[in-house]
Amino acid sequence: MDRYIINGGRKLGGRLRVHGAKNAVLPIMAAAVLSGDRCSLYDCPDLSDVHHTIKILRTLGCSAELNGDILEINSDSINSWEIPEDLMREMRSSIIFLGAIAGKMGRVRLCAPGGCELGNRPIDLHLKALRQLGMEIREENGFIEAIADKMHSGDVHLSFPSVGATENIILAAVGLKGETTISNAAREPEITDMCDFLNKMGADIEGAGSENIRINGVAHLHGANHKIMPDRIVAATFMCAAMTTKSEIELLNVRSSHLGAIVSAFRDSGAKIEFFKDNMYIRAPEKARSIDMIKTQVYPGFPTDAQSPVMAALCFAEGTSVIVENIFDSRYKIIPELRKMGADILQDGRVAVIKGHDLCGAHIKAMDLRGGAALTVAALGASGQTVLNGVHYIDRGYVSLEKQLKSLGADIERI
Ligand code: UD1
Repeated sequence: MDRYIINGGRKLGGRLRVHGAKNAVLPIMAAAVLSGDRCSLYDCPDLSDVHHTIKILRTLGCSAELNGDILEINSDSINSWEIPEDLMREMRSSIIFLGAIAGKMGRVRLCAPGGCELGNRPIDLHLKALRQLGMEIREENGFIEAIADKMHSGDVHLSFPSVGATENIILAAVGLKGETTISNAAREPEITDMCDFLNKMGADIEGAGSENIRINGVAHLHGANHKIMPDRIVAATFMCAAMTTKSEIELLNVRSSHLGAIVSAFRDSGAKIEFFKDNMYIRAPEKARSIDMIKTQVYPGFPTDAQSPVMAALCFAEGTSVIVENIFDSRYKIIPELRKMGADILQDGRVAVIKGHDLCGAHIKAMDLRGGAALTVAALGASGQTVLNGVHYIDRGYVSLEKQLKSLGADIERI
């Protein structure tokens, strides 16, 4: 298993381009199944989750090749509606194929996502909504079998704006005759990116990015080309790295509108942040201020995916910060690891209280994707050497994070 050796305390500097977003490309790869045609995705990040999704596409009978940052998918030879258990268990977000395969093949069989590194990930909202649209779903021994023959358009209300449920409903509904509406839909920009792609394929979707989405069913879809949106969580992670190392860096390929909650938090903490078109400049203060309260929320609130890296940054801030994690219960697995580095963090349920001071290197372990990125960010700012195990989690969502940080001057090696 790979690990990072990080000698902390070095300033970062220079510019870095932010790669395409994992959480946009994965549902877009599922959406490509609906086209029955060739699709080209540009700025596709070379991530283990992308390679895993390529395996799923090939199992379904599609061709999928990643050359550099261009992913070519051809779904004209799709011939299966089943995702094998091992592929489903490896990546829980594969549930996004439920709506796409049902929409294309009329039926689907896959296993239900159980526990994962973020705790149990229920899919009750996905199933309830799809049943409302007439999907016949049988759940047996951890497997889901669904038949879409009797699916019809309709109005669906989500009791919570789940990202995955919103995407699954859209994917299942683009081909249904008539108008389907989703109220209290999730508003995350990755959903808008997926809808932009579907509309290029000939779909008729309005309102993505708002809480009311309208899908006018179309009979035929076709291939399309699409550039994946920049990864806002990767951008946030590099901002955190600038904060822990008290550095100034420039990030290329960012959208200011996607980063509002994080920019506001770091400005409060004393950072100078400016945007020029698609570029961002951030200069961290010599001594960052604590932040009274960060509460993770659905978009446009503070993103749960950025919570761990921001916690790492707040460990170095002057004063006491409070974080409330409202989306996923198991986001606090990094706290014991940060404590090994000397962090002063109290946790009670969803609430974490962080008293900031300098950290020192330690032997620590990543246990999930964003936690791994957060520990890397902490190690960059800590004095001395950190050995970070569990780097394979980081590979799920960051393209060679160590190389990118090295290009900014970090002392980090992968062994
Ligand atoms: C997506 C993102 C993930 C991000 C999350 C929240 C992808 C591949 N993953 O995950 O990185 O952290 O959005 O922004 O895009 N829930 C239910 N029942 C359901 C569905 C969800 O109770 O049927 C709960 C979940 O347990 C969680 C909350 O709703 O507490 C948010 O989940 P959801 O928005 O669905 O996140 P994902 O789509 O899984």
